Amino acid sequence: MCGIAGYIGYRNAYPIILNGLYRLEYRGYDSAGIVLFDGDTINVLKTKGKVSELEALFEADNAQKGKIGFGHTRWATHGVPNHVNSHPHVSQSGELVIVHNGIIENYDTIKKELTKRGYEFHSDTDTEVLINLIEEIKRKEKCKLGKAVQLALNEVVGAYAIAVFDKTKPDELVVARLGSPLAVGVGKDNKEFFIASDASPFIEYTKDAIYLEDDHMAIIKVGRDINIRKLTDDTLVEASIQELKLNLEQIEKGGYEHFMLKEIHEQPNAITDTFRGRLLANEGLVRVSGIDDHIERFLNANRIIMIGCGTSWHAGLVGEYLFEELARVPVEVEYGSEFRYRNPIITEKDVVIAISQSGETADTLAAIKLAKSKGAFVYGICNVVGSSIARETHSGSYTHAGPEIGVASTKAFTTQITMLTLIALRLGKANGSISNSDFNKFLHQIEVIPEKVNSLLKLDEQIKKISTIYKDATNFLYLGRGFNFPVALEGALKLKEISYIHAEGYPAAEMKHGPIALIDENMPIVVIATNNGHYDKIVSNIQEIKARKGKIIAVVTEGDEIVKELADHIIEIPATEEALTPLLTTIPLQLLSYHIAVMRGCNVDQPRNLAKSVTVE
Ligand code: G6P
Repeated sequence: MCGIAGYIGYRNAYPIILNGLYRLEYRGYDSAGIVLFDGDTINVLKTKGKVSELEALFEADNAQKGKIGFGHTRWATHGVPNHVNSHPHVSQSGELVIVHNGIIENYDTIKKELTKRGYEFHSDTDTEVLINLIEEIKRKEKCKLGKAVQLALNEVVGAYAIAVFDKTKPDELVVARLGSPLAVGVGKDNKEFFIASDASPFIEYTKDAIYLEDDHMAIIKVGRDINIRKLTDDTLVEASIQELKLNLEQIEKGGYEHFMLKEIHEQPNAITDTFRGRLLANEGLVRVSGIDDHIERFLNANRIIMIGCGTSWHAGLVGEYLFEELARVPVEVEYGSEFRYRNPIITEKDVVIAISQSGETADTLAAIKLAKSKGAFVYGICNVVGSSIARETHSGSYTHAGPEIGVASTKAFTTQITMLTLIALRLGKANGSISNSDFNKFLHQIEVIPEKVNSLLKLDEQIKKISTIYKDATNFLYLGRGFNFPVALEGALKLKEISYIHAEGYPAAEMKHGPIALIDENMPIVVIATNNGHYDKIVSNIQEIKARKGKIIAVVTEGDEIVKELADHIIEIPATEEALTPLLTTIPLQLLSYHIAVMRGCNVDQPRNLAKSVTVE
């Protein structure tokens, strides 16, 4: 949801910022811009479109000079993507420049007030209002930039990560955050600083990073320690420098055509990384420190509420089946956006599990805050270390999937499910819902899941052939029952996200209550029909589809004979426990959507209108 990258120091800022924007493009890519200050002039170049279009502009303009500057890649909230609405935005005097990730909710009121005082606005953005508010305060209070930023941010309602530059104080950058992430990379001896929405733009320059906290701002000057202050009362905050574990290889494509494909293929390792040190099959143990430290809270819970958005919500649905089956705990699954505005009934006996790859999703974060305010215990399952959700929750587990850059979530989903499985087993063991022998059986079965995922990745060619046949379809239906109903939802989501084919996921039996009306000889239907669970029922559903001439792509267990007779295509998965099948059935559906999208010429890693992390409501 918009990416910010900036630099101040002794090097030429342009290549650092440009490269940073390329790495942050997953956050939004409908327009991009960079400002550079060459010691004399502020040069802003911006454009609708991708970072590559911005690069072309800079080359044509030969405007790459300056040792200070910042850039922005945008996912539009206020105003359509076009040149004027792109960031950076310059204040009326031409002295102040800003980039902003987030949303200023009361911008209209402020805009009216500023208009009365003679300010003119050229864009439809909330950001242009904010920079002029800062300018107006600076003028009125006769204060420095840092103070003006602080006072202005106390007047706005909303979420932001901002970077501001003042031509009259060209040796400093001011940054601030509330609700949207911002990291500062600290160069050797404070000779240079980097700012970015995540650390990826500066990992080759420094491993020392400060993650700005909510309601904090920082004044960054070369040669000085970073000055961090609370926005609310101006008190100084000690900087906490963290050592980055990220490396370049993790954020590059490593020979794959797309990040999504790379991330699909990373799943055997990612799943192993999730259970490493937690699943101790030989000792018959599951150790999840975040749970172990609060086990009573979980055991005494009236119910568990899983909260997430998008793919993470689908993982929560799988979690519901897992927890009910393995731990016999009542579970509800909620969208962050619905939960937070519904006045939900939450008590101190509730445990919330918030699931989020990025750890930054605004609705999930707001739902957590609400649950906490009502006394619930909140546990986070996040991928991004140090993210807002990881910090806001009482306890939690990281999935350790590594950076996920493709906008369509893949390894995040399977690792979230892995983590939920471990927790369900841990609780089931603690409350006696699962027998020792079943528990041990599960541990051994989970251990071999990565190998089985690996074998599924080898079906790539077969899935490509199926994709060729259906790439021009206009609608798809995905059906599954039980544990694989959420997988059907996830399969449909993947396809629509990246190929723009309309797709719906349904519990297979619900087909009769509506979707069956859509079925004819042009309708491809992906049915997850593994041989455990409700196999007979799903076979009947397949027969119903066949009777209406629908095209059936069935995901079945190896050796299946019955569905093979009925389906147009079968994709076989290795046998496993029913509760673990989502970890396998998901893989071919990811590959199917990937290949269809590539064949349709879609931008797989950066699908239109989407963003990797949604830090606005
Ligand atoms: C966006 C992404 C989805 C993701 C959802 C939740 O919509 O495009 O892929 O599932 O946000 O993100 P989170 O980071 O909270 O898992």
